[in-house]
Amino acid sequence: MKSEQLLVLRPDVAGLEKAAGILQGGGLVSFPTETVYGLGADARNDRAVAGIFEAKGRPQFNPLIVHVADIAEAQTYCAFNDLARQLAQAFWPGALTLVLPVQADAGISKLVTAGLDTLAIRVPDHPVAQGLLAKFAGPVAAPSANPSGKVSPTTAAHVTAGLARRIDAVVDGGACAVGVESTIVSCVGQPALLRAGGIPVEALEACLGQSLLVDEDPEKPTAPGQLASHYAPRGKVRLNAAYAKVGEVLLGFGPVEADLNLSVAGDLTEAAAQLFACLHALDAMGAAAIAVSPIPDRGLGRAINDRLRRAAAPR
Ligand code: TXA
Ligand code: MG
Repeated sequence: MKSEQLLVLRPDVAGLEKAAGILQGGGLVSFPTETVYGLGADARNDRAVAGIFEAKGRPQFNPLIVHVADIAEAQTYCAFNDLARQLAQAFWPGALTLVLPVQADAGISKLVTAGLDTLAIRVPDHPVAQGLLAKFAGPVAAPSANPSGKVSPTTAAHVTAGLARRIDAVVDGGACAVGVESTIVSCVGQPALLRAGGIPVEALEACLGQSLLVDEDPEKPTAPGQLASHYAPRGKVRLNAAYAKVGEVLLGFGPVEADLNLSVAGDLTEAAAQLFACLHALDAMGAAAIAVSPIPDRGLGRAINDRLRRAAAPR
């Protein structure tokens, strides 16, 4: 249990120095990335990493993503093949996580990889995340900064609401621009999609000139975090709803009359950016039953539908 008041840091030099110092001391700091807020710890420090699992109530078999400053640093922890290098050069910094063989002498805590011989790694595209990585000068393990199974945070206020008293600080960098987590691609063997996310699959396939194997079966997750029930607001969720039934709140998409709307214009980028904030708002409203408009399953729509299916899954 940490102190009552969560330390909220400004994203300036002093705030980033303070945040980096907390990480160096083995503490837990939440920071903004372009996708969602992460809950960071020194990826080489077993005790610090254990603290992430404890703060989130996260099962220890579920490995974490390591955040680094650039490709050169990523290569000190992971073995890149040609396809991985191609993806990293095209999409980093950005909302793409690569799963690659971990270098044996990398010094990454076994808790980060949950004992796997692979590591999930990414270079975030956010000035505050980059500033923190520069000041800390090391690998930062960071899952999304929410209690396990709950809705991911896209503002510092979401982090405070979910994790105050469980972590040391949050750097407030405003709302996340992308709004859904990174796309996860395994480059161990044939490149495979493990989680739809902020970089559309179509863009990855265009870059590679080949299609990705798809592995999104929630019953058999290769990314062990892809549990069926996840991203769950408190209310019951009904998908592909043309309208709200009596007692339901409608989360709309496109020009429909709705209580909340992901994007009146039907814009998938805007909808992704609004998704988690809307789910948090539905919790704040006390919505017990939520109907959601249909969302096209292309581009960022694929990541949105993945999150909504898990939000609607039996708990
Ligand atoms: O956008 C994001 O990716 C955010 C920000 C903070 O970077 N992070 C994030 O982390 O979404 P988290 O812990 O919520 O999701 C990480 C996912 C989990 O599904 C986990 O199982 C998977 O990555 N993962 C981690 N290491 C893996 C590995 N070695 N092999 C396969 N999947 C892995
Ligand atoms: Mg998460």
